[in-house]
Amino acid sequence: MTYQEAKALLESKGQEQLLKYYDTLDDAAQKDLLRQIENLDWSLFDALAHKGQTSARGHLEPLSAMEVSEIAAKEDYFRAIGLEAIRQGKIGAVLLAGGQGTRLGLDKPKGMLNVGITKTMYLFEILIGNLKRVTDAAGAYVPLYIMTSEKNNDDTTAFFAEHNYFGYPADQVKFFVQEMAPSVDFNGKILLEEPGRISLSPNGNGGWFSSIHKAGLLPEMHERGVEWLNVFAVDNVLQNIADPVAIGATLDGGYTSSGKVVRKADPDERVGVLCLEDGKPSIVEYYEMTDEIRNTRLENGELAYNFGVILNYLFRLDCLENILANNMPIHVVDKKIPYLDENGQLVKPETPNGCKFETLVVDMVHMMDDCLPTEVIRNKEFAPIKNLHGVDSLDSARELMRENNIEL
Ligand code: UTP
Repeated sequence: MTYQEAKALLESKGQEQLLKYYDTLDDAAQKDLLRQIENLDWSLFDALAHKGQTSARGHLEPLSAMEVSEIAAKEDYFRAIGLEAIRQGKIGAVLLAGGQGTRLGLDKPKGMLNVGITKTMYLFEILIGNLKRVTDAAGAYVPLYIMTSEKNNDDTTAFFAEHNYFGYPADQVKFFVQEMAPSVDFNGKILLEEPGRISLSPNGNGGWFSSIHKAGLLPEMHERGVEWLNVFAVDNVLQNIADPVAIGATLDGGYTSSGKVVRKADPDERVGVLCLEDGKPSIVEYYEMTDEIRNTRLENGELAYNFGVILNYLFRLDCLENILANNMPIHVVDKKIPYLDENGQLVKPETPNGCKFETLVVDMVHMMDDCLPTEVIRNKEFAPIKNLHGVDSLDSARELMRENNIEL
């Protein structure tokens, strides 16, 4: 793309600010900026018009979970099925580590956070430890695919190498990089983070499977005989990964997907709830719930929409491949985005100053034919670290780890 073409394009889109420093750049940087402009995905911008509006929902109905007591009654049976599937190589695990952890305010990958107090216990290390508990019991490894972003890939891969993959075999670990999307200010203007660099951020956690596909990892999954992927977040220190009991329950019931859920603490808890929408599994976010949905109770007094998701899902690989061509809905999310101000100075804002475009893994659940919610005991399996203090924080996660007799 030439300068003239870029200028005309940007003028037609109201984004001329991207060329403000063009004349100050050297040749290579000018070419690079033109390449970035050429690569912009303008279709994302349609989503800006609908920002803040929740898309119309279909007919919602409660979806009952397999509750803790039901799982406990068949635990050994389910575990045996799950361990056998692992031994047969049917299970892969996908760690979503492409996020930027802006709420935590780290300037390195979230997984490098040291959760320990008297000893070092990195988030990545804890997750690998949780996975190893299962692979030791199975006597077989689960291939681990780690999604990073362009922003944190080098740090993440170097960290794993430096720590010897925390005792997991390096040949069982594959990294892949997710795609990026431009960030905009609240007026929809694309931000620059350097005079010749458009502000790009990871495009949300919903693109993980298409990024696996683009990274060319599907043939090797098939060669290994992987039939299921357990996808999970980087920040829940207590989660069971490749949990043989949940795998067993899903396989035994003939489901195409399942999601770990926790019982809501109260009707107003801010979690997305797994339910049915027009007969298909779906996750309704807390801000989309009407009072009626929030408060409806079953005859036994329990909330009808009672089970919140914790970002730990199991998907059948062939079903994921079938939905590869589907467009994921784009969410416009307010975030703190470093940017160049009108004087060309880099500003790192303390409060959200713009928006990022993200696709979300929750939307993938709605593309499945069915999904089994498997209930887990909150205090044993759910300790996400989103903030340093307060709700879902390093403090609360440490408290829960202590409660579970984990030495810090
Ligand atoms: P969150 O939505 O909590 O985002 O991610 P985050 O980036 O960790 O933190 P904030 O919102 O900026 O404070 C949930 C999971 O999805 C992953 C994260 O790494 C985390 O495991 N994720 C999120 C990605 O892999 N890519 C993304 O673009 C966004």
